[in-house]
Amino acid sequence: MKPVFGIVGCGSIARFHFNGLAKAGARVAHVADLNEAVAQPYAERFGARLSKDYRAVIADPEITAVSVLTSSRFHHEICRAALAAGKDVICEKTMMDNAREAEDTVRAVAASGRLFFTAFMKRFFPAARKAKELVPQLGRVFSATVRSFQPWGDLYTLTSDKGYEWILANYGGAVLKCAGSHMLDLAMFLLGRPESLYAHLDFLPGSRLDRKAVAVLQYPGGMTATFEAAVHPLQKIGPARDAWDEGIEINGVHGRLTLRTVMWDQPERNAASLVHYDNATGSATEHRFDIVNPFDEEMKYFAECLEKRVPGRPGVVDGFHVDAVIEAMMQSAEQRSAITLDWKGIAE
Ligand SMILES: NC(=O)c1ccc[n+]([C@@H]2O[C@H](COP(=O)([O-])OP(=O)(O)OC[C@H]3O[C@@H](n4cnc5c(N)ncnc54)[C@H](O)[C@@H]3O)[C@@H](O)[C@H]2O)c1
Repeated sequence: MKPVFGIVGCGSIARFHFNGLAKAGARVAHVADLNEAVAQPYAERFGARLSKDYRAVIADPEITAVSVLTSSRFHHEICRAALAAGKDVICEKTMMDNAREAEDTVRAVAASGRLFFTAFMKRFFPAARKAKELVPQLGRVFSATVRSFQPWGDLYTLTSDKGYEWILANYGGAVLKCAGSHMLDLAMFLLGRPESLYAHLDFLPGSRLDRKAVAVLQYPGGMTATFEAAVHPLQKIGPARDAWDEGIEINGVHGRLTLRTVMWDQPERNAASLVHYDNATGSATEHRFDIVNPFDEEMKYFAECLEKRVPGRPGVVDGFHVDAVIEAMMQSAEQRSAITLDWKGIAE
């Protein structure tokens, strides 16, 4: 049966979901936002019912799947309510506000028997999919670097977080939750989950605004990944010289993969790229892909999984992984010590 969507939260990320669902031919029958004015155009476009209260969407008998696109601090309550009402869920990242809520949601999904997807859209770049296919050709992987440098301006010489408070209020953190979360998901998509980590976070003095997050992630067998997420004011860095400098390099005994991603809200301007160096031939192959919007790919995939009733990825466990790693990084930075990740008996 084709899913019928209800959308909760019609702010900045919503247009990517609505556009992707429209292209997938999906039906959206109910939209909600505390600010009805931002939901109104979507209600009109899709001929959908409009509510202020998310509970109206969840109580709507026509809705089979609820997309939760509010700030992450409301995700737990809304996702729990949707699951309890027997709805499938698509949840924006970061999935939850903390690891405890994320673990609870994993268990709630298992108990409900419903399908749950976490919207880490960077997995849907064709380059990321190809990288996943090629990782086994690298042989034993011994090293990786994971980086997200995003052009937010100069937060290093600022003396106050005035003008940035909304980021903390909306997203529960700055560079680690907004930028780092995606790259942590992509790293775990390609490399699996780490055993332990050691992290350092750099905050704007006197503020909770994290402007740089650095970590060493340790994996079974001695593999390590270094991770760095930072905001910066450098206008022309990155492969497209648009200040976006983000990617993953993976080194194995048989070769290297270099994946570069592109500016998240203009994904149709550039294609993410992938270079595969093969040690046996000594040659590097640059894989080129159609320029596709990963949000469109993601929505099409989620709608298909919902129709076929298959639990695709990224799912609730992937959301939990990222929330748990972020929390461990915060703890590690605060305690200035390494943290062994507690996966709470949840299978990878
Ligand atoms: N995938 C990405 O690259 C990406 C990019 C940006 C944001 N996000 C994620 O998307 C989510 C939303 O971010 P945003 O930038 O769109 O925020 P936003 O503030 O622009 O939009 C959130 C909307 O939710 C509404 N809302 C909040 N609580 C509600 C409730 N209880 N019931 C109904 N509506 C409610 C708000 O009124 C607002 O219109 C966050 O989890 C964020 O991390 C993901």
